[in-house]
Amino acid sequence: METLRQRFGRPLRLGVIGGGPASWIGRMHRSAAELDGWWRVSAGVFSSDVARSRAAGPLLGIDAARSYGSVEEMLRAEAQRSGDGIEAVAIMSPNDTHHSCAAAALDAGLDVICDKPVSETHAQALDLVARCRRRQRLFAVTHGYSAYPVIRHARELVRGGVLGALRLAQVEYMQSAMATRIEDAPATNRTRWVLDPARSGLALVMSAIGCHAQHLLCFVSGLAVARVCADVGALMPDRRVIDHASALLELSNGARGTFTAAQAAAGSENDIRLRLYGERGMIGWSHRNASYLTLALQGEPARTIGRGDAELSPAVIAGGRTPRGHPEGLREAFANIYAELAQERMALSLGEAVAPGPYPRIEDGAHTMAFIEACLASHHSGAWRDVAA
Ligand SMILES: NC(=O)c1ccc[n+]([C@@H]2O[C@H](COP(=O)([O-])OP(=O)(O)OC[C@H]3O[C@@H](n4cnc5c(N)ncnc54)[C@H](O)[C@@H]3O)[C@@H](O)[C@H]2O)c1
Repeated sequence: METLRQRFGRPLRLGVIGGGPASWIGRMHRSAAELDGWWRVSAGVFSSDVARSRAAGPLLGIDAARSYGSVEEMLRAEAQRSGDGIEAVAIMSPNDTHHSCAAAALDAGLDVICDKPVSETHAQALDLVARCRRRQRLFAVTHGYSAYPVIRHARELVRGGVLGALRLAQVEYMQSAMATRIEDAPATNRTRWVLDPARSGLALVMSAIGCHAQHLLCFVSGLAVARVCADVGALMPDRRVIDHASALLELSNGARGTFTAAQAAAGSENDIRLRLYGERGMIGWSHRNASYLTLALQGEPARTIGRGDAELSPAVIAGGRTPRGHPEGLREAFANIYAELAQERMALSLGEAVAPGPYPRIEDGAHTMAFIEACLASHHSGAWRDVAA
């Protein structure tokens, strides 16, 4: 029997926004999109500078004629192509551009794959939710950690009640990217926007890594964050941007939790880690050992579950591409998000029944923005704050 990809007959056409030659996440997006043949990167805008943007495309293998000087130009020109214009955009430009680029793409009738944070405020994120629904478009947020196969398995275990009711969640993301005074180094295009609080977001650490930790907790537990009591600030003396946030959490089922995100944690290496404790046991995962999950049920020996183990569901096994034991990583996890959105779009286009994939959506991005705003409000008031619905 023919596969969905065969029935559709071609890859979907993607336009990228951001991710010029010096951006590592740009390479990650482009290669993840094309990894399994679901997408072809067909056009792009790679800089806020018109000439630099046009010059960058050919360096990345994009047709010069489809390497545009601005997002408006790309959307207009691609819409006028006869039948082979882009069908989605992937946004990986600075944080303060995400909302306007996503809104313009949705209004042009395109699906959106957007890097985090999806917007600068919760209100803007709700605006994207409304535009998506009005235009019936798909919207993925690239929280790559949520797409590791064993994270998907953890989610299935929790939803299947293996742990019983969840009682306690611990999530943290420790990073050393700002453990030195990068403010004192010569400015780069990147540090110019990252170190400007007006451009990098309400709280830099949340835009950069805290959003991944909060999303991972919600994704695996199936719970939202209902209330927070937070401490937000800078670990590095005299820093203008926020590099640390810790919070006590109350989850939507009443469970308790702790959250820590720090970019000035010297010696750490993108250490994201999750532990969930239910009435019958715990699940633990660390990015240091991303293909494995610990399941420890009360009174039983702890087990290590690996990507590719026979007991995993076919959907989870499909999230891996090599036999177990061969390392896979964040690129493959990103590719899972791209694959799931593509499969949904292709099935919808063919009029076929489709089970929506578990990839992070705009509603998740909106919850993250509400979480960030609640953490800041809690910090400033010194009291617990509700996370807006
Ligand atoms: N999901 C993840 O794990 C992850 C990891 C790293 C970065 N990111 C996100 O990626 C985004 C970019 O981060 P970065 O570290 O690559 O930054 P960067 O400054 O290194 O790269 C930004 C790129 O966008 C381009 N750009 C700037 N303004 C633009 C515009 N108006 N239109 C089109 N292109 C424009 C720049 O030329 C550059 O190539 C951020 O939103 C960040 O949160 C996500």
